[in-house]
Amino acid sequence: MCSIIAYAGQRVAAPMLVQSLKRMEYRGYDSVGLATISNKHILVKKGVGKVEEVNKSLGLEKMNGSVGIGHTRWATHGGVTDTNAHPHQNCKNDIAIVHNGIIDNYSELKKSLITRGHKFRSETDSEVIAHLLGDFLHKKYDIKKAMINITKKLKGTYAFVAVFDDGTVAGARFDEPLIVGISKDGYFVSSDVLGFIEHTDKAIFLDNDEFVILNDNGHAIFNFDGSKVKKQVTQIAWELADAEKGRFAHYTLKEINEQKHTIINALFSKDSKLDEFCDVVAGAKRVVLTGSGSSYNAALIAKQLFSKYAGIHCEAVISSEFQYASGLLDKNSVLIAISQSGETADLLQAVKIAKASEARILSIVNTPTSSLARTSDLFLGINCGPEIGVAATKSFTAQLALIYRITEILSGQKLSLNRSDLERLVSKVLNDTKYIANIAEKIKYIGNIYILGRGLHFPVAIEGALKLKELVYVHAEGLPAGELKHGPLALMDENTTVIMLNPDDETYSDTLSNVHEIKARGASVIGVSNVNSNKYDNWIKIPKAKDILYPILEVIPLQLLAYHTALKRESNPDYPRHLAKSVTVK
Ligand code: BG6
Repeated sequence: MCSIIAYAGQRVAAPMLVQSLKRMEYRGYDSVGLATISNKHILVKKGVGKVEEVNKSLGLEKMNGSVGIGHTRWATHGGVTDTNAHPHQNCKNDIAIVHNGIIDNYSELKKSLITRGHKFRSETDSEVIAHLLGDFLHKKYDIKKAMINITKKLKGTYAFVAVFDDGTVAGARFDEPLIVGISKDGYFVSSDVLGFIEHTDKAIFLDNDEFVILNDNGHAIFNFDGSKVKKQVTQIAWELADAEKGRFAHYTLKEINEQKHTIINALFSKDSKLDEFCDVVAGAKRVVLTGSGSSYNAALIAKQLFSKYAGIHCEAVISSEFQYASGLLDKNSVLIAISQSGETADLLQAVKIAKASEARILSIVNTPTSSLARTSDLFLGINCGPEIGVAATKSFTAQLALIYRITEILSGQKLSLNRSDLERLVSKVLNDTKYIANIAEKIKYIGNIYILGRGLHFPVAIEGALKLKELVYVHAEGLPAGELKHGPLALMDENTTVIMLNPDDETYSDTLSNVHEIKARGASVIGVSNVNSNKYDNWIKIPKAKDILYPILEVIPLQLLAYHTALKRESNPDYPRHLAKSVTVK
């Protein structure tokens, strides 16, 4: 996914646009570009690289004009080049556009535009938007009409914003987030509230099939058929400080450390909808959980807990596989969709499929203003504040904490600890991490790492492996320890490193015998446990706790191990290569 920002108002646009793009860079960081209007002329500057670098080399924030658009790219169509960077323009250069999403029918649109004499400069799908708008305006200079016409033509998913040399700004949304920010000196249009959180907390969330026009008359919102829409202004709960790194070197480290508060907040959530949420789950004939990435791993833990403690047996389906799992849901079913951003395209598609089979949609989400929250019948917030590091950390443990709370209500049993004990345990895990950096030094050049666990520890093993993949770019695999003898043991030799999740709960003795089997083949073992063993080459100590809390306490050192190993390999943990915070394209 990409990030889009626009401003139209009394202030100089460029410096604000550059700051906004820096804040939304986790959405895509292949290239950056701005277009501003000055004296009825559109100036475009763009280039490959991060906002900081391109701003320095091209002087983006020095561009003139009080109207402008900006973009950071996560490449889908066309390589990472200066020409493919956004903004893109039409032949007459009197329009510039930025786009997030994928235009599925771009090649046929491009072909017909070329036959009508249009000259394309990039390999992107997005550029067709600029030429199409130009085509419509060429016939009759009516921007509203052009927006109605172009939204009839485009197929795929898109949020795009166009700026015209008369100073008008127009943006449309179909299956990609687009938000209008209303400040005292002008308007913003952004992919994310973080784009304008520094300037205003007043936002209008565009729904699908809507477009906005900003000009000297202020703002107006229309449906794709041109009918005017009256929209509610929402007050954003997040503050700027939430989106700043503060004293931490990276967002990822800041967010890992915020877990001493975020886990507690989620576990002791006062959300008034909790009981209603649990009633719907308890009353359903079938419950299906879905999510992507770390959110799917949280779904795997929910599946085990709901079954073990509440006798509610669920399916957990990866969102990108949902479309192939037909006949899963009907009107007596419930889909529980789990997502940090609430904008992941695969997950929103799974929700669309579930809605089509009349299932109830419940969701567990971090972004209360997201598409998922707004399209669900009922959602619960994990309230861990903005998560900017691309790899999920605090959102994963907050999802687990809220799932524990739901399990308590569904089972009518008190499962977890009291607040102060949990604060103590999490702080303990977060405070003595220095030796983890030493272990990171030892594993920084290892090519294959296996993380093994049983029961609730298996999904945590998958999550730990995902962190190593995301941040260290190493082949890491989460495996059920019991499966070792049925294949993976063949991988074990003196070049293999295994991380064993082995706290002293019901899985302890079986997992320890797996450690012996692995050691017998010469592999090195890092034990994550509250109990040391002379079989471990390295021991990551976690505090003794109630069994149910070990998944939360053991994943934090795995997050830190991935973070420190990334640093040892001189890669930036906040912006891992080829990834983006939430993928809004399928
Ligand atoms: C990926 C992120 O893009 O999406 C992962 O890099 C995340 O960290 C996954 O777990 C799912 O995102 P979300 O927002 O739906 O939980």
